[in-house]
Amino acid sequence: MLKAKGLSKIFTSGLLSKQRVNAVDNVDIEIKQGEILALVGESGSGKSSLGRLLLMLMQPTKGEIHFNGHELTKMKKKDLRKMRKKMQLIPQHPEDSLDPLWKIYSSLAEPLRIHGLDASKNTLLKLIEMVGLREEHLYRYPHELSGGELQRVMIARAISLRPKFIVCDEPTSMLDMSVQAAIARMLLALQEKFGLSYLFITHDLELAKIVAHRTAVMYAGQIVEEGVDVFESPFHPYTEMLLKGVKEPPESTEKPPGGCRFYDKCPKKGPKCLTSPEMVTVNGRKVRCHLFA
Ligand SMILES: Nc1ncnc2c1ncn2[C@@H]1O[C@H](COP(=O)(O)OP(=O)(O)OP(=O)(O)O)[C@@H](O)[C@H]1O
Ligand SMILES: [Mg+2]
Repeated sequence: MLKAKGLSKIFTSGLLSKQRVNAVDNVDIEIKQGEILALVGESGSGKSSLGRLLLMLMQPTKGEIHFNGHELTKMKKKDLRKMRKKMQLIPQHPEDSLDPLWKIYSSLAEPLRIHGLDASKNTLLKLIEMVGLREEHLYRYPHELSGGELQRVMIARAISLRPKFIVCDEPTSMLDMSVQAAIARMLLALQEKFGLSYLFITHDLELAKIVAHRTAVMYAGQIVEEGVDVFESPFHPYTEMLLKGVKEPPESTEKPPGGCRFYDKCPKKGPKCLTSPEMVTVNGRKVRCHLFA
């Protein structure tokens, strides 16, 4: 369904002293039809950047993205726009994604109209009810909805175009505990109903455990481990650290160039780790660590 190879994104900033951030570094990733892949990792590890790349919301520096047999990075703008409706984003901050001057009705109708789909009131009613809201919500402005209700609107908008693949970027992290569970359950129900594929980005390892068919762990722009039961039996020292909830020691300056990205923080490092480990597959688990090479 969706398959990316060697995906990289380098951000540059600063006028003269060009600062380079390798936000996504040579990532291979595959998501099958009807599959939920959880993507976990600390803040700044590149999760959102990877999600946005897969949706071609920004151009990768390097790499290929194959979606239903099309290579997205080589597509013309016009063809890509058509493809877009099959790939949607549910963002972390719904309030930034809705026009504050538009009633919910217009925000839901607009994408349908753009893609030449039926944007009648009846369609909008069905949509809004599918996410547990009522007709009255259609006639409100974003600031007149709660965080949970806004996220339901974003979900309605994402599924309105009948997508195949959705990037859920920390869809519940801004919400109260009680609402988080309800939104997560609804996303799962929709996934089953429509046979959707999700990249489910989250900080919450418990949530990842519940929703995911498979989990990928990201560290410093790289996927360092991936598999079905990474939380039950972590291989990578970073995954172990995540699970124990260890607060990270401060960033060390003596990171060996070209070595393992986790070198300075790894309790199990050895001389080999001064070179970058390749991703290997051990008993169905993918892991990027010299301990398993
Ligand atoms: N548009 C941008 N321009 C420059 N640097 C960026 C840009 N977007 C992200 N970055 C940098 O890329 C790195 C990865 O950021 P990203 O937002 O993908 O991380 P994340 O894992 O989603 O973090 P969080 O869990 O906090 O959402 C960070 O160092 C960030 O500062
Ligand atoms: Mg993010």
